[in-house]
Amino acid sequence: MTLSDNKAESPIDGSPFSLGSLRQGYRAVVIGASGGIGSALCAHLESDPRIGELVAISRTIDGFDVTNERVIAEKVVEIGEPVDLLICATGMLTVDGTPPEKSIRHIDPAVMAAQFMTNAIGPALVAKHFLPRLSRQDRTIAAFLSARVGSIADNRIGGWISYRSAKAALNQIVRTASIEMARTHPTASVVAIHPGTVETKLSAPYSRGHKTVTAVTAASNILRTLDNLQTGETGSFVAYDGSPIEW
Ligand SMILES: NC(=O)c1ccc[n+]([C@@H]2O[C@H](COP(=O)([O-])OP(=O)(O)OC[C@H]3O[C@@H](n4cnc5c(N)ncnc54)[C@H](OP(=O)(O)O)[C@@H]3O)[C@@H](O)[C@H]2O)c1
Repeated sequence: MTLSDNKAESPIDGSPFSLGSLRQGYRAVVIGASGGIGSALCAHLESDPRIGELVAISRTIDGFDVTNERVIAEKVVEIGEPVDLLICATGMLTVDGTPPEKSIRHIDPAVMAAQFMTNAIGPALVAKHFLPRLSRQDRTIAAFLSARVGSIADNRIGGWISYRSAKAALNQIVRTASIEMARTHPTASVVAIHPGTVETKLSAPYSRGHKTVTAVTAASNILRTLDNLQTGETGSFVAYDGSPIEW
């Protein structure tokens, strides 16, 4: 079992990237800034000469737990508006030391519930509170870190049933939110994105023998792909290189 199923993952380019599609002085919010990919996204964004402000939020540093709605609601008020770029880079594969299931025989309801809470319901709460804060006038982007293994159509080898299904639920949440957002925020792109197989704490136990990219490269790829989305292009599930992934 691999983080990316049977698709080859290849790096594009790890070079720093400037988000030209957003307004000069744009304001970015990265949730999960303590994570492997989240921290690399922050590093790239900090070095973008076009950025106005980066709001980096993390559970470790700020006590921002995506499963705690009160904390999310308070943070949104604290941050205020506008938000031009929102990236939710939180997620979990191993639950308190319990690895993803190899078979349905290993389903544990508590572990499965934790997967859904962290990988689907938490980001849904982030969407609920943060998406209305996106500007209605300027070009905006909201991206939720998903995983190719959340694709139902692409599932060829089974395994990891809780993580897979929680990410599939996340994809449906993002798609649904994007449809609502298109009515009120026509300049917003709301997408689920697969980062590739990335060298982070999350993937380390499972990436041996697979082609991986560093978090710096993954972050650069993600930002480039987000920047290349066209206004009106929303509700999609895309890979780090911009290619569409089947639901
Ligand atoms: N790495 C890969 O190969 C790969 C492949 C496909 C998809 N992804 C997805 O990419 C995303 C980022 O993964 P990563 O590789 O960067 O993993 P990581 O290094 O383990 O980082 C995970 C981040 O999620 C945060 N987090 C977890 N539970 C949280 C909660 N309840 N509330 C708030 N924050 C929480 C962690 O916060 P703290 O550390 O502060 O607790 C950490 O910042 C995940 O959604 C993952 O599923 C990764």
